[in-house]
Amino acid sequence: MSDTDPATPFPTPGGAPGHVALVGAGPGDPDLWTVRAVRLVSEADLVLYDALTDVDALRGLTAAQLFFVGKRAGRASVDQETINRLMIRAAKRGRRVVRLKGGDPFVFGRGGEEMLALASAGVSFEVVPGVTTAVAAPGLAGIPLTHRGVSSAFVVVAGHSPESLDGALSAVRPNAVTVVVMMALAGRAAVVDRLFAHGWAGKTPSAVVCEASTPDAWTWTGRLDELASADPPPGAAGVLIIGEVVEIRASLAAALAARREPIRGEGEVKYGRN
Ligand SMILES: C[S@@+](CC[C@H](N)C(=O)[O-])C[C@H]1O[C@@H](n2cnc3c(N)ncnc32)[C@H](O)[C@@H]1O
Repeated sequence: MSDTDPATPFPTPGGAPGHVALVGAGPGDPDLWTVRAVRLVSEADLVLYDALTDVDALRGLTAAQLFFVGKRAGRASVDQETINRLMIRAAKRGRRVVRLKGGDPFVFGRGGEEMLALASAGVSFEVVPGVTTAVAAPGLAGIPLTHRGVSSAFVVVAGHSPESLDGALSAVRPNAVTVVVMMALAGRAAVVDRLFAHGWAGKTPSAVVCEASTPDAWTWTGRLDELASADPPPGAAGVLIIGEVVEIRASLAAALAARREPIRGEGEVKYGRN
């Protein structure tokens, strides 16, 4: 096992043709990997993994060569072209490659580009869906994205550019659906502005859920007009949730309190593994 040069020849025993699996690793906790993800990782020769993966779990599961291709503080990530090239070259050398990505490979994960690159190169590949943080982070914080009589739809949008927000928000009626915004912690004030510009009410229940499924899980709830002043831990990964369903977390807290279930920390409900 090494995280040096992934191009080192490491042919599959018996000279079998190589293969690439684009695998979703869920929000962070390896318990949320799919059974197929675990099997493919344990059988792999090479794993190319992203920043949000639990590396200790990875090491415990596989003798594969591990190669980090994600973003790390102060260091540029490996560019997409290079990742595609590494996967293709390793597979053509007969290696079983797992491209392990946070959440689901096809939700803001560039998995579609990787799939097309593999298909164009004639490399055998498969896609293994993962648990997306868009759904898992609110879920682990006790916030269902749909709830009978409250919300019957949700939209998931990238928050790092006003254009992507405007495109999605102009397609829905204000306060009629649940909105989940990813990649928007730093730009949350701009997200709030865009929601107001599209007619969303300042009192709309809102939440920020960071580092879901990890020991650093952190949740804030309040109103949309307070969301910009939520103070998430520096460097955390998190999602914003805007909509009436956020209130269900308070109902959950009340139900747990009535049963004397512990509530850990301010606004943090002990729920699931949080
Ligand atoms: C580049 S996107 C990748 C999304 C991923 N493909 C998925 O399906 O979850 C990264 C964003 O995912 C969210 N994210 C990742 N891990 C998270 C976690 N453990 N808790 C909350 N949000 C998380 C954050 O919004 C972060 O900016």
